[in-house]
Amino acid sequence: MAGQHLTDKNLALDLVRVTEAGALAAARYFGRGDKEEADGVAVSAMRIAFQSVHIRGTVIIGEGEKDHAPMLYNGEKVGFGDGPEVDIAVDPIEGTNAVAYGRLNAISVIGAAEKGGMFNPGHSFYCKKLVVGAEAANVIDIDAPARDNMVKIAKALGKPVSELDVFVLDKPRHTGLIQELRVTGARIHMHRDGDVAGALMAADPRCPMDVVIGIGGTPEAVITACALKGSGAQILCKLEPLSLAEQRAIEADGIDMKVVRGVDDLITTDRCYFSATGISDGEVLHGVSYKGDYAVTSSMTTRGRTNTMRYIQAWHNRKKLATMSSVRY
Ligand code: FBP
Repeated sequence: MAGQHLTDKNLALDLVRVTEAGALAAARYFGRGDKEEADGVAVSAMRIAFQSVHIRGTVIIGEGEKDHAPMLYNGEKVGFGDGPEVDIAVDPIEGTNAVAYGRLNAISVIGAAEKGGMFNPGHSFYCKKLVVGAEAANVIDIDAPARDNMVKIAKALGKPVSELDVFVLDKPRHTGLIQELRVTGARIHMHRDGDVAGALMAADPRCPMDVVIGIGGTPEAVITACALKGSGAQILCKLEPLSLAEQRAIEADGIDMKVVRGVDDLITTDRCYFSATGISDGEVLHGVSYKGDYAVTSSMTTRGRTNTMRYIQAWHNRKKLATMSSVRY
């Protein structure tokens, strides 16, 4: 249609092939105890897959600085080099330890937004976060005690706090928070990794997870916002440096640490796209499985503008792919 914006195309449908590639490559290393190797193969598979996507992408959130990350580093250009200019947040393995040590909820993820539409977290690694589905989106307050949030969320969902399902990363920094949550009587699901998967569960009405709370990765918060944009679900986050070095680096970046950022601050455009493919099994996505010549993947995509969610199962013929691709699926 004349005058139609270039990014009106649902890029998530192209990006899903990239997260599939990351998941397929990483799944080979499931439980093998080597997170660097798993990450390395996922990164190269995604980088190759990106080449067929018709975008002019810039990695805003990637594997870190160029010197430490030879590929998918912050600032790297990805895509075929034509089409819309987009900012990319990519986590080839969200839950690297989960893959290395054979645990649940590892996914390969990409968020993409029209150029300039994605919050750049700079050198911030950690933030406080609170994620809920649409029904409780307007009642949460990241500065309020956990108890108050649980009471308000339960009320919004029309159930007692004792029936709230809460996702918390099982980390020493959360000892106090977990105590506080236990006092409320809520049901606490403790996961070692994977708060993006936790957020997808909280936002998905099919899943019995109501809230994600605690301190997790800031890049992961931006990726989560990309997934939630347009759905009515909410993530609130506030930067929470866990070291003096991190705090100083954020100050040097000029990012205000006192600001509470929600979905619409983290992703300011509705021309945004998200794709995730399961590496290991989770409540929203199945992990990669092998059936004869085929490797089977389970993915989801979302698009901010329309709030369309797609769940895509793909059967990849490994024999055929082996003749066409340098990546071992
Ligand atoms: P990666 O595997 O992508 O590094 O992240 C896994 C993860 O569990 C995230 O889901 C979470 O936000 C973050 O790590 C928490 O960081 P840490 O493990 O350092 O507490």
